[in-house]
Amino acid sequence: MEVGLSDTRFLSKIATSDGHGENSPYFDGWKAYDANPYHHQNNPSGVIQMGLAENQLSFDLIQEWIANHPEASICTPQGVFDLKEIALFQDYHGLPEFRYSIANFMSRVRGTRVKFDPSRIVMSGGATGAHETLAFCLANHGEAFLVPTPYYPGFDRDLKWRTGVELIPIDCESSNNFMVTLEALEYSYNKAKESNIKVKGLLITNPSNPLGTFFDKETLKTLVTFINDKNIHLVCDEIYSGTVTNENKFVSIAEILEEFPTICDHNLIHIVYSLSKDMGFPGFRVGIIYSYNDTVVNIARKMSSFGLVSTQTQHMIASMLSDNEFVDNFIRESRIRLAHRHDMFTNELAQVGIGCLESNAGLFFWMDLRRFLKEPTFESEMIFWRTIISEIKLNVSPGSSFHCKEPGWFRVCFANMDDVTVMVALERIKSFVHQTRMLDEIKTLGKIKTKKQCWQNNLQLKLSSRRLEDIMSPHSPLKSPMLQAQY
Ligand SMILES: Cc1ncc(COP(=O)(O)O)c(C=O)c1O
Repeated sequence: MEVGLSDTRFLSKIATSDGHGENSPYFDGWKAYDANPYHHQNNPSGVIQMGLAENQLSFDLIQEWIANHPEASICTPQGVFDLKEIALFQDYHGLPEFRYSIANFMSRVRGTRVKFDPSRIVMSGGATGAHETLAFCLANHGEAFLVPTPYYPGFDRDLKWRTGVELIPIDCESSNNFMVTLEALEYSYNKAKESNIKVKGLLITNPSNPLGTFFDKETLKTLVTFINDKNIHLVCDEIYSGTVTNENKFVSIAEILEEFPTICDHNLIHIVYSLSKDMGFPGFRVGIIYSYNDTVVNIARKMSSFGLVSTQTQHMIASMLSDNEFVDNFIRESRIRLAHRHDMFTNELAQVGIGCLESNAGLFFWMDLRRFLKEPTFESEMIFWRTIISEIKLNVSPGSSFHCKEPGWFRVCFANMDDVTVMVALERIKSFVHQTRMLDEIKTLGKIKTKKQCWQNNLQLKLSSRRLEDIMSPHSPLKSPMLQAQY
């Protein structure tokens, strides 16, 4: 018998639920890109992928290191002698040198201001696996984590789907740059309690995806005090810690515990990390749980059997990340390149009047297109977003898919493309803004005209001949579906 996707009769509730989250617009944008991907030569009018938080700007440095270290791979004449040992190793503790090198890397990313204990490093299949494992360890089916909005859409899958754990949003607002306040925390916590939902933890992403901002020390202290008072866990996803461009200002939760050791019960604190963003290795699936709680370390390690990192990858990563000279240079250079790309993008957008939330971390920025919406509603945001994809041919991600409370914000990823693609993307945005401005001007002129006609029948308003041409032309921007979506 053939079992199609629609035939769910013999499957479990989990399998047939839509907890995978792939029905969200976040993934729709990827599908639009897949159906018509931009390519300089082969498909210059295709969709440009700006919805993918990938760090592709420093691969040359990694390639160079690999070329210079053939012994790091078991697939080279220089490294093949280690093949048997590596291929046979399957301990869920991981290779000791792997755990050491990860602890070392996490420390260097944080400017060596803080140390990590290799015996607390638990591996997982990316941060995705780390989040699910932690959710399994910390909460039962039906219990919940509080999460400040906007947040990474994957959390709805990673923490909820197979565990049955709930996520309760903490609404943050643009009026204070989406910072998390104690009032907002208390409000969400109490609301959950009123609904008889047991809150087991608070999940934060520092630096934030999608905002590209990070928490200041005082806010972190407030959060830690809050979770300690309520006796709930704090999970800190620090997957973007190496992308911070003004690195000295970034504060890891590990630094808070070191500087203020009595601020909370350390058993409540857990860090999620991965090499997917800082190193640009999402394909290697190197995820890390770093817990200050011995029991969680112990259980998570046992659970990690479901998502170990292959020893071949561990072996290569161990060599690469214990080379301190390479690591320090990579982190420094990667930050410079990310900052350059970020600034170039946001400065160009500022020139055409598009604002972004001020940020200095992540592989994206948070673009403010509120003024382009027909109405301040999520329906308008969706209409506008669909038009961005089909007309401007850019896959940016709408704020609603990040559970943002305010319509009109969009996440723009900037590190997954080359310079030429950046220029094309910017040209497309500028051309759209130009068209919109023209339409605004025409509308304003139209209004003035109507008003004046009431007072003075024979007063003629003159449009410039260029503008009249624009209006009369068969290629008039007024005919653009993009503008029709707005007006
Ligand atoms: C905040 C955050 N956490 C976790 C992940 C998943 O990362 P990984 O590829 O390591 O599973 C992502 C990926 O975009 C992310 O942005």
